Amino acid sequence: MRSIRVRLALIFSAITLGAIAGVYVYVAPQLESSLRDQKLEELARDAGLYSRDLIRAIGTNVDEGTVNRAVRQAADRSGSRVTLFGVSRGTQGLQTYPISDSTAQTRLEDVSFAVATDAARTGRTQRGTEPTTEGRIGEAARPLFFNGRVARVVVFSAPLGDVQRNVELIRRQIAVAGAIMLLIASIAGYLVAQALSRRIKRLETAADKVAAGDFSQRIPIDGDDELADLASAFNEMQGQLAQLDSARKRFIATASHELRTPIFSLGGFVELLQDEDIDDETRAHFLEQISQQLARLRRLTAELLDLSRLEAGSLELRTEPTDVGDLAREVTREFTPALAQHDSHLELRLTRDPIRATCDRERVAQIMRILIDNALAHTPPGTDIFVSATRENGGVRLAVRDHGLGIHRTVLPRIFEPFFTSDDAQGSGLGLAIARELAERMNGHLDVESVPGRTTFTLELPS
Ligand SMILES: Nc1ncnc2c1ncn2[C@@H]1O[C@H](COP(=O)(O)OP(=O)(O)O)[C@@H](O)[C@H]1O
Ligand SMILES: [Mg+2]
Repeated sequence: MRSIRVRLALIFSAITLGAIAGVYVYVAPQLESSLRDQKLEELARDAGLYSRDLIRAIGTNVDEGTVNRAVRQAADRSGSRVTLFGVSRGTQGLQTYPISDSTAQTRLEDVSFAVATDAARTGRTQRGTEPTTEGRIGEAARPLFFNGRVARVVVFSAPLGDVQRNVELIRRQIAVAGAIMLLIASIAGYLVAQALSRRIKRLETAADKVAAGDFSQRIPIDGDDELADLASAFNEMQGQLAQLDSARKRFIATASHELRTPIFSLGGFVELLQDEDIDDETRAHFLEQISQQLARLRRLTAELLDLSRLEAGSLELRTEPTDVGDLAREVTREFTPALAQHDSHLELRLTRDPIRATCDRERVAQIMRILIDNALAHTPPGTDIFVSATRENGGVRLAVRDHGLGIHRTVLPRIFEPFFTSDDAQGSGLGLAIARELAERMNGHLDVESVPGRTTFTLELPS
C-alpha cells in the first residue's frame, strides 16, 4: 500500500471510477429525460397535425361511426394511439369522458388520462407520462374548441419503451467502456509509477553510496522534468561533496606532514645531544635549533587550531567599535625589531581623526600581523612597507603595501589556500587562509593586488 506504484494506480482508478460514476448518475438520467421530452414533443406535434379532421367531426349531428373513423385515421397517420374525450361541466366541475379510442385493448369506459382533464381545464396542450402494466407511456392532450369553448380533448399516446431501452443500452455501454477504461487506467498508473519509482530508486541508491563515502557514481539525467532537475542537483551536490572530501583529506595529510617535520628534527637534535663528546659550542647550536623548531611547532599548532575553529564556526569574536588607526600604530610598533633586522622601513599613513570600525580588535591585529609579517618574509631585505587606514564607501579600508618582487600571476589565486606557500621560507602557508577567514567572519573582505614591484593587501571592514 505504501509503494508509490500502488498508490498512483489506485488514484488513477479512483479518478476514472469517479468520472464514470458521474456519467452514469448524471448524464444517463439527463439523456433519458431529454429523449422522453423529445418523444412528448413529437406526440404534441402529431396532436396538432392530425386533429384537424377531428375538429371537423365535432358537431351535434355527427354519427358515431364518422367519429370513430376520424379517430382511427389520425392514429394510422401518426402511428400513436388516439383517444377522443368529451368535456362535461356538471356540478362536480369540469370533467372528461371517453368518446372514442383507436385501439380496442381496453373497454372504452375504463379509458382515462389525467392530462385530458388538465388540457380541458387550461385550454392548452398538456404533456405527461404515466406508468401502465406494459411500461411507461407518454401522452400529449390537445383541447379542441367549438364555439370558443373546449368541446373535446384528443390524447395522442405511445409507449416510452424504446426510450428506456435506448437508455438501458447506453447505460450498459457506459458500464462496459468504464470497466475497460478502469483497467487501462490502473495499468497505466502502475506503469507510469513504476517508471517514476525506478528513477527515484536510482537516486536513493546514489544517495546511499554518497552516505557511504563513494562520490564517484553520477546519476544519468533522463528527460527534463522535476526528477531530472533533482538528479542534476544531486550530481552537483555530489561533485561539491567530493571536492570538500578531497580538500579535507588533503588538509589532514598536509597538516600531519607539517607537524611531523619539526618533530622529526627535534628527535634528531635530542639524539645528537645525548652524545657526550660534543663541545659546548655545538651543544648551544643544537639547543638553539631545538628552540627554533619548538617555536615553529607552537606557531603551527596555534594556527591549525585557529583555522579549524574558524572553519567549524566556533571561534568567538568580540566585535566592538575600534579605532583602526590606533590599532595600526600599535601593531606596527611591535615590528620595530623585525624591520630593523630586515633593513626595511615601514611608513604609516593615517588620517588625523580616528577611523572607527566595528570589529574584533584582537583579530584585526592578527590579520595585520600576518600581512606585515608576509611583507617582510616574502620580500628582499630593504623593501619598504606602507600601512594605511582610510574610510571608504561607508566602511574602513586597511592596506598593507610593499615594493617587493610581487606575487606571480599563476600563484596569485592560490595564496589564500591553507598550506600554500610559494617559497620554502619557514612559513606554514596558513597565514593568509586564517586572515581571509577572519575578515569574512567580521563581515569584511581581504583581497590582494600584485604586480612586480608592488603588492597590496587590502582589508575592508564594515564601520
Ligand atoms: N607581501 C607578499 N609578497 C610576496 N608574496 C607574498 C606576500 N604575501 C604572501 N605572499 C605569498 O603568499 C603565500 C602564502 O602566504 P601565507 O598564507 O602567509 O603563508 P606563508 O607566509 O606561511 O608562506 C606565501 O608563501 C607567499 O608566496
Ligand atoms: Mg605568512
